[in-house]
Amino acid sequence: MSAPPAFRVVERCRVCAGGSLEPILDLGATPLANAFVRPGTATEDRYALELIRCATCGLVQLSIVVDPEVMFRSYAYSSSASPPLLEHFDALAEDLVGRFAPAGSFVAEIGSNDGVLLRPLVARGVRALGVEPAGEQAAIANAAGLETVNTFFSSGVAGELESARGRARAVVATNVLAHVDDLRDVMIGLDRLLDRDGVFVAEVPYLVDLLDHVEYDTVYHEHLSYFAVGPLRRLFADAGFELFEVRRLPIHGGSIRVHAGRKGARPVGAEVEAMVEAEERAGLHDASAYRRFAERVFRSREALRELLDRLKAKGHGLAGYGATAKGNTLLNYCRIGPELIEFIADTTPQKQGLLTPGTRIPVVAEARFLEQQPDYTLLLAWNYADAIVRRRADYVARGGRFIHPIPLAKVI
Ligand code: TMP
Ligand code: ZN
Repeated sequence: MSAPPAFRVVERCRVCAGGSLEPILDLGATPLANAFVRPGTATEDRYALELIRCATCGLVQLSIVVDPEVMFRSYAYSSSASPPLLEHFDALAEDLVGRFAPAGSFVAEIGSNDGVLLRPLVARGVRALGVEPAGEQAAIANAAGLETVNTFFSSGVAGELESARGRARAVVATNVLAHVDDLRDVMIGLDRLLDRDGVFVAEVPYLVDLLDHVEYDTVYHEHLSYFAVGPLRRLFADAGFELFEVRRLPIHGGSIRVHAGRKGARPVGAEVEAMVEAEERAGLHDASAYRRFAERVFRSREALRELLDRLKAKGHGLAGYGATAKGNTLLNYCRIGPELIEFIADTTPQKQGLLTPGTRIPVVAEARFLEQQPDYTLLLAWNYADAIVRRRADYVARGGRFIHPIPLAKVI
């Protein structure tokens, strides 16, 4: 038995250090979303899963921070396990090489996972180096010849990299900033590592999409911050950087890709200010927008429970597809266990044979799913709905139906 891992309560905003933090949404005590459990293990630790909002700069964030050593050192999530991500990162590499970091230049990636972006960069002649705290993912990348330092990125690590390799033309961080507690230290690291006119490219899930589509299940302990352009721009500005380009992306239920450089280094696109203004018009600085959101989350849970209970009562077999982190927030919050969902299919070998944390639903290989042909399947990886429905056209052709859980559960 190990002692429950440490967490700290957030008392000041990590962007502006403001101390006025208002509660938005309470999802209850929840296990860590990627802590899939081996059958037979004791109950898993639970932590408060609660969103709060900084009244000063508007940053939406979690009320606690679980020790990153616990969440990210042993991290089962492999980016390359999801085919749509391969295409996404290939396109990102193409854009980086075309506009900012030509063949031969040095590019550093923070949170490089199993090398899903390093690979297409290296294939284009870039000297790409990853920094990745998850031991297993870093090892997979290194074994494939994609050089990866197995550590958390920090200003100290940035200084060492700069001494050993010089400055980077580009630093990339996709789906990483939301994981970082000490964002100001990352900004200091960026300042050490980036060329004078180098570019920082980050992708983060977009708060506007989260609110609009009621993507409450993307809230889990790994995601400390939920960014809009306004608070992000402030974070960069406070560190001497400037956002010069922002684009919305459909990935992960709606994300933004932001480009930043040193203040004044590049012309600032008109869309940056336009997006900040649109966020203000959408009421992102207004408590009532968040009250509405919390009500929609509550209704979403009711609709899903009603649909599943009704199908079950009619004698239908129910399963899930995609043993995702977000799925675990959803299952725990909606209190859906193996009495409703018999098993969850997932292509990731490391997850198969394990149980979902908190709800204890077995994760199985796709073969079992196809054999059993459940009548209805809850899409827990709804961000890949199109890809999954295409991939499992065989299941649908035999009469199987997928359920899309948000904003309101719907058979597709
Ligand atoms: P993510 O939504 O956090 O990226 O996780 C996706 C999960 O879904 C991951 O465990 C792999 C799984 N998956 C499949 O099993 N089959 C698929 O076709 C896709 C796209 C994902
Ligand atoms: Zn703040």
